[in-house]
Amino acid sequence: MHDLRTVTEPARAKLNLALHVRHRRPDGYHELETLFAFVDHGDLVRVTPAETDSFTLAGPFAAVLAGEGDNLVTRAATRFREAFGGGAHAIELEKHLPVASGIGGGSADAAATLRALAALHGVDLADPKLFAIADALGSDVPACLLGRTALGRGRGERLAPLEGLAGTPTLLVNPGVGVSTAAVFKAWDGEDRGPIGAGDLLAVAQVGRNDLEPPARAIAPAIDAVLAALAAQPGVLLARMSGSGATCFALFETEAARDAAAATLRRPEWWLAATRLC
Ligand code: C5P
Repeated sequence: MHDLRTVTEPARAKLNLALHVRHRRPDGYHELETLFAFVDHGDLVRVTPAETDSFTLAGPFAAVLAGEGDNLVTRAATRFREAFGGGAHAIELEKHLPVASGIGGGSADAAATLRALAALHGVDLADPKLFAIADALGSDVPACLLGRTALGRGRGERLAPLEGLAGTPTLLVNPGVGVSTAAVFKAWDGEDRGPIGAGDLLAVAQVGRNDLEPPARAIAPAIDAVLAALAAQPGVLLARMSGSGATCFALFETEAARDAAAATLRRPEWWLAATRLC
């Protein structure tokens, strides 16, 4: 589409450098402390003002979403119009991230849609109504709207920006299985293993954990081989599962170490992305 009014927004993959589950709340959600970070790899959302609403999918993972009439992108656009007006839009989602994989694909897409609509219609990204829409769409959507390294509390919507690790070479590996976030949280053992510390971001992440790793590995044992393979690579600073899985990531000392790991780990059933932290 070569419409000059088209706004294209990156929907970057989200990583949880650490994710500490503290307790299950009366509303069924879990109280978290998590280190959010973003990588320079993800989906793309293109929004163009139009006579009528339309939604099209493209990219390598388009087929996975194609059957779903309702998705986070169209829901974000509906909520935006209810709050701010702005008429109809043609929205295209170019899907490069695996679906239901712990790296916030759907949340990042929803946040990118909100950012694009806000740019088109002069809405301030700091508008509390925009944040409220993000919060209602999903626990990771506010972090994706912010789109930068941050400590998240609550469901992940209470955000405090953090500095550090920008540019760190990163490899994402998904074993080719989708995992239900609700199922993984439900299988968490209920034990509070303590808060996330403060200080140097890498050191804090390294001593941290992802408390959803054990339940996710029980549900999807294919995660075991990915984590073991990542942890064994030369030059790894941190190897961990992201979110509720099944995507795992490793941070590397150098791009050469990341690229060597990517070459070693390439398998037909695994999805890999060589990228860097933003
Ligand atoms: O907020 P979102 O719709 O992304 O969450 C999906 C599901 O994951 C929730 O319905 C809930 O079962 C679980 N969840 C949770 N605690 C969180 C976030 C998600 O239990 N902090």
